[in-house]
Amino acid sequence: MTSDVIRFIHNDKIIEIKDSDPNETVLNYVREKYKKTGTKEGCAEGGCGACTIVVGTLNKNNIDYEAINSCIAFLPMINGKQLILVEDLAKDSKSLHPVQEAMYNFHGSQCGFCTPGFVMSLFAMFKNNYIYDDETIKDSISGNLCRCTGYNPIIKAAKSLNGKNKSDKFFKNKNLTINLLKRINNDNYNIDNNKRKFFSPKNISDLKKILKQYPNSDILNGGTDLSLRVTKERNNLNSIIYLGSIKELKYIKQNERFIEVGASTPLIKFEGIVKKFYPDFYKILKRYGSVQIRNVATISGNIATASPIGDTLPILLSLNANIVISDHKGNKIMPLNGFFINYRKTILKKGQFIKSVQIPFSKNNIFKAYKVSKRIDDDISSICGSFNINIKKNIIKEIFIAYGGMSATPKRALNCEKALLNNDFSKESFILAQKSLEKDFSPIDDVRASANYRKEIAKNLLLKCFLEIKNNKKIEING
Ligand SMILES: Cc1cc2nc3c(=O)[nH]c(=O)nc-3n(C[C@H](O)[C@H](O)[C@H](O)COP(=O)(O)OP(=O)(O)OC[C@H]3O[C@@H](n4cnc5c(N)ncnc54)[C@H](O)[C@@H]3O)c2cc1C
Ligand code: FES
Ligand code: FES
Repeated sequence: MTSDVIRFIHNDKIIEIKDSDPNETVLNYVREKYKKTGTKEGCAEGGCGACTIVVGTLNKNNIDYEAINSCIAFLPMINGKQLILVEDLAKDSKSLHPVQEAMYNFHGSQCGFCTPGFVMSLFAMFKNNYIYDDETIKDSISGNLCRCTGYNPIIKAAKSLNGKNKSDKFFKNKNLTINLLKRINNDNYNIDNNKRKFFSPKNISDLKKILKQYPNSDILNGGTDLSLRVTKERNNLNSIIYLGSIKELKYIKQNERFIEVGASTPLIKFEGIVKKFYPDFYKILKRYGSVQIRNVATISGNIATASPIGDTLPILLSLNANIVISDHKGNKIMPLNGFFINYRKTILKKGQFIKSVQIPFSKNNIFKAYKVSKRIDDDISSICGSFNINIKKNIIKEIFIAYGGMSATPKRALNCEKALLNNDFSKESFILAQKSLEKDFSPIDDVRASANYRKEIAKNLLLKCFLEIKNNKKIEING
């Protein structure tokens, strides 16, 4: 069955929207048509958190609550979900939600512009955790900016939630909400209103058929990159194929050789898995955008952007990741190295999509990766360096090095690798190899960093990698 009506649950009612514009953001819909103006617009690019809402997604017999940036989510993306807005939290006009009460008690708000966004991020934290420690709190609000209160009162408010009774109205109504979500969760969902198309297939087979019929469509995954073409560049996307409803693409599998991540698996699900295999990968993911971004953004989306400063790309290149490319003819596995051909250009042809990413285990190797950005949280890299090394009897037997932010695409440092391969694992070798980076990269000046800074930092990261391995100790500059 295919439906052209967007259905979502709000305040335990099924809301139906017909003939919507697939380029309309949830934020614009909520504020302008739904007339709920508690949710604010700050940046319209996912960076400030003022527009944070929470969506509830059916997960078997449970609901996952996810904070998202409504300014960069298109309305059809909440089809089949529960929409929770800041107006919905209080039980009635006399009793606030525990999160709101905490913000009030700890003076977590001054001008109030950022407050709805903070409240919603803390609400998602409240629903998803039992203990609210410093790390959980700071992670939960890493995508929310406040310019007048400062963060301490907000953090204190969040801490005060420890031990609070969790049975809020969403807990009490959960079974009702689950039943409603089950009622609206089944159909393929397509809009074709002559002006714009939006396809949301439920399985890979339908996806392939739609891609074959509409090969010029834009593939939409988490939308954290694509939607900015509408919200910032003011372009239109006239035909969109959304991968987010395809359960077959949301998985993380593991065998002896690799971890495989399905195309529409959100990064937040992946970060917990990768932690035990590649701690530095995990650390970088924790600094990837914010919780709101990682709740929806995907690795396949990151790869398909081919952004020179995409965080996972140098890491995946140095880990020799493969990608599975798919179309109506079948699947093809290829190394990620070779996928990027120019600035934001890949070898992907029309009608093809990335089905999954396979990340090998390198059990005998040492893996290090570093992200350098202007801000620790919620900032994209200026430079990212990633190193995968096998050392036997103090000789470098295997080495894969890749950098982001150093050229038009993320790239392996082949000259530098050559300079180190089969050489001593020594400071002298690494100092010599630093020179080879000059042959590998001619970076440019831009708003994030100057070319000279990039060259210098790339060399320093190489040395840092050596020193950390040699001394078996992390070098932390930012505390
Ligand atoms: C506030 C903010 C912070 C950010 N911070 C970071 C950061 O710290 N590090 C970082 O690297 N990036 C960051 N980004 C960029 C962005 O979040 C990432 O590139 C993200 O991984 C994109 O994934 P997505 O699923 O949202 O892709 P989408 O936006 O849905 O798609 C991006 C592109 O990939 C294509 N695409 C998506 N999936 C597929 C597929 N399976 N097959 C073929 N094509 C596909 C789309 O057509 C589109 O061209 C940030 C973005 C924002 C808005
Ligand atoms: S308005 Fe700034 S994140 Fe959405
Ligand atoms: S209270 Fe004014 S920006 Fe946060």
